[in-house]
Amino acid sequence: MDDDVAPCTALAYLDPSYWDQRFEKEEHYEWLKDFSHFRHLLTPLLSPSISVLEVGCGNSRLGEEILREGVSGGVTCIDLSPVAVHRMHDRLVEQGTSGVDVVVADMLDMPFESDSFDLVIEKGTMDALCVDIGDPWNPNPTTVDNVMKMLEATLPSTIFRGPWVYMVCRVEHIWHRLPLFLLHPPEGNEVTRVQSSPRYVTCSSKH
Ligand SMILES: C[S@@+](CC[C@H](N)C(=O)[O-])C[C@H]1O[C@@H](n2cnc3c(N)ncnc32)[C@H](O)[C@@H]1O
Repeated sequence: MDDDVAPCTALAYLDPSYWDQRFEKEEHYEWLKDFSHFRHLLTPLLSPSISVLEVGCGNSRLGEEILREGVSGGVTCIDLSPVAVHRMHDRLVEQGTSGVDVVVADMLDMPFESDSFDLVIEKGTMDALCVDIGDPWNPNPTTVDNVMKMLEATLPSTIFRGPWVYMVCRVEHIWHRLPLFLLHPPEGNEVTRVQSSPRYVTCSSKH
């Protein structure tokens, strides 16, 4: 990350204006890792007919990479930042990429109908919600509420049919979040955890 976009404190990640200002300056940044590092984990979940939602896309290239894997049902990328969304939209038009819709939307209040997607993925986005978690063993109740809202808004019982993939980097946070995944899997779902590196964890659930 370049110094001119680094925040003074990680709490800035909770401030929508921080993201707008950052995306005005920054062309491209991949949180955690780029697609090539976890392609082997995602490709078994992808097939031509499915539609995919990426939550909190920022200026990542993940949506395009998923499209290139042959997902012809379409990829929808959402972000709360209008700057990120407009810049991604313009870039995709410029390079002639069709099949990726980019939409301004709040992951805590999703604007989609039930069963709109077959797979939901996020990379580093839940991490941004967790910067004020405090003691991971005794987490801040507001943070827990927000994580639960995000999960509720994206679980298969709501806007999609599953599977879902969360890629998060903070291992101490996942110990807090895993019970949310494991204790409340949507009915009929099996939750598995794949730890592909010490730095990030992928959770997925299949009907
Ligand atoms: C850590 S960045 C991850 C960006 C991208 N997924 C990546 O891997 O490079 C977190 C992203 O979440 C977005 N975001 C934060 N709160 C959001 C919300 N409530 N709804 C949708 N997007 C949000 C931010 O604008 C930012 O683009």
